Amino acid sequence: MTALRTVVVEAASGRCPIEIARGIVRHVGNGMVAVGLRPVRAAVVHDSGVPLDAFAAVEDSLRAASIDPVRVGIAGGEAGKSLEAVAAVSARMLDAGIDRTGAVVAVGGGVVGDVAGFVAATYMRGIACVQVPTTLLAMVDASVGGKTAVNLQRTDGSIAKNAIGAFAQPRMVACDPEVLGTLPGRELRSGLAECVKHAVVADRAMLAWIRDRADRLLAHDPDTLAELIERNVRIKAEVVSRDERESGPREALNLGHTFGHAIEAMLHAQCTHGEAVAIGMVAACTVVRELGAEGAATLEAEVRGTLEAVGLPVRMPAPRPVAALRAAMDTDKKRRGGALRLVLPFGPGDVRTLAGVPEPTVERAWRAVGAV
Ligand SMILES: NC(=O)c1ccc[n+]([C@@H]2O[C@H](COP(=O)([O-])OP(=O)(O)OC[C@H]3O[C@@H](n4cnc5c(N)ncnc54)[C@H](O)[C@@H]3O)[C@@H](O)[C@H]2O)c1
Repeated sequence: MTALRTVVVEAASGRCPIEIARGIVRHVGNGMVAVGLRPVRAAVVHDSGVPLDAFAAVEDSLRAASIDPVRVGIAGGEAGKSLEAVAAVSARMLDAGIDRTGAVVAVGGGVVGDVAGFVAATYMRGIACVQVPTTLLAMVDASVGGKTAVNLQRTDGSIAKNAIGAFAQPRMVACDPEVLGTLPGRELRSGLAECVKHAVVADRAMLAWIRDRADRLLAHDPDTLAELIERNVRIKAEVVSRDERESGPREALNLGHTFGHAIEAMLHAQCTHGEAVAIGMVAACTVVRELGAEGAATLEAEVRGTLEAVGLPVRMPAPRPVAALRAAMDTDKKRRGGALRLVLPFGPGDVRTLAGVPEPTVERAWRAVGAV
């Protein structure tokens, strides 16, 4: 294993070290012992459709630490993020005799992390959780901060994303950049979109850093990825430590997501979450420029340039009507008290949530990313 890079979330509900190192998947068991976790048995939850060497490595490391691994597969993809999956994983754990002293180890992307994290938060009123994220998005975003959730089907059959969930800090997160070697390029870029978001929110210099290293990042170079992961985990951990329950500063991390969720709703077959967030960030930058903020045009150009350098879209892949996109924004969870609220980047360290942005401004932002 290469030298550890450690970042710590210090939240009101608990402390969570995030360890980053090449080869760390082979040391998860030791890591658990080091943070005081010595369960007899632990459920290792994974996406049953994607066999990764990381599962066996994590399981071996648990055995080496005298922890008995119980492998539990779930269906991947958003459809797998359901209460049925939570019930199925919990039932398997009951069958295996895992009690309150047990633990859940999530090995997978954000979907596995969310399902396993919610199981851990609720099983026997809450047991320990360890996250071993295997996508870039899960490493820099989903596994950090203790938010867990599954989707819920409404009575009309439609799906409410992340409608049931809990805040529960994992006891440890282990990020191994070597595991990303098998991640498809499109999934890697999806995670890079969240890194660009972090840069805009808290580390403008990282935009140029990402642009300059685009080739190495897209080639899955593990050392460059390790540095990227550390930089981004630091940003997210710092924000979460200040505002675990998203009552203030953490809202900034929703930059690009109000536009992005509307794009995902209308173009879900053509856009990944990260691609939608990328386009959404460009729209948010356009709103700020339209509002006449100083330096907005420069920021917009920088964001566009960085997204394009890593192969992320800055326009929708197919035109959609402004009115339909605007209507889709109204279902966004950040809409409170009837007003549309937008997270907008006004400058370095100055990301604000604004209600009452004039409708013609929102419309021009939609047109700037290809709406008709
Ligand atoms: N809890 C949070 O704070 C939070 C934050 C952001 C996103 N999320 C959630 O995360 C989910 C998205 O996560 P994601 O982008 O990781 O998607 P994902 O979990 O669906 O993973 C993407 C795909 O990559 C595969 N995969 C995973 N690791 C791999 C590897 N190393 N090599 C090859 N293939 C691999 C998966 O099986 C899947 O098919 C969404 O449900 C979103 O709501 C949660």
